[in-house]
Amino acid sequence: MSARAGVNVETLQAASLQKPDTILRSLSVLVIHGPNLNLLGQREPGIYGSISLAEINRLLEAEALKLQAKVTFIQSNHEGILVDAIHEALEQHQGILINAGAYTHTSVALRDAIAAVNLPTVEVHLSNIYRREGFRHNSYIAPVAIGQISGFGVQSYLLGLQALVGHLRS
Ligand code: DQA
Repeated sequence: MSARAGVNVETLQAASLQKPDTILRSLSVLVIHGPNLNLLGQREPGIYGSISLAEINRLLEAEALKLQAKVTFIQSNHEGILVDAIHEALEQHQGILINAGAYTHTSVALRDAIAAVNLPTVEVHLSNIYRREGFRHNSYIAPVAIGQISGFGVQSYLLGLQALVGHLRS
């Protein structure tokens, strides 16, 4: 994973490993991790588990390989960087998988960015946001997402990727 100010980016080209006769339409998905998710593994493990963000990304890479898709990761603690990443996705990706972290519950800017680019987007959360504090029950992302998966730990991400790729191929 390479790093520059406030942003971590990593890419895996999974589709290149396919035999010619089994290549499906090449799909690229941007995986967006919002604030504080860089601390997964040490952050409130009773809620978020002990898995690190790097491990989540590895599991997503393996899932993408099975799905014959390409995944690119970004994590940032800064709202504007996430808005920029969503804008830039328009040129490079066919869909977005997003855990916006706390910005889920506060960010009209992220919601508007997703609506503006109009890329199919799946929202995921490690924890079940509806079993937690009331302020987590509202998602600004959900109305502009094709669906939301919440409460299954890392499986939320894997299920979300499966659903997004299935949607894009349907
Ligand atoms: C979270 C839930 C949010 O309420 C919280 O602010 C997070 C993580 C989750 O994955 O469960 O940072 O998005």
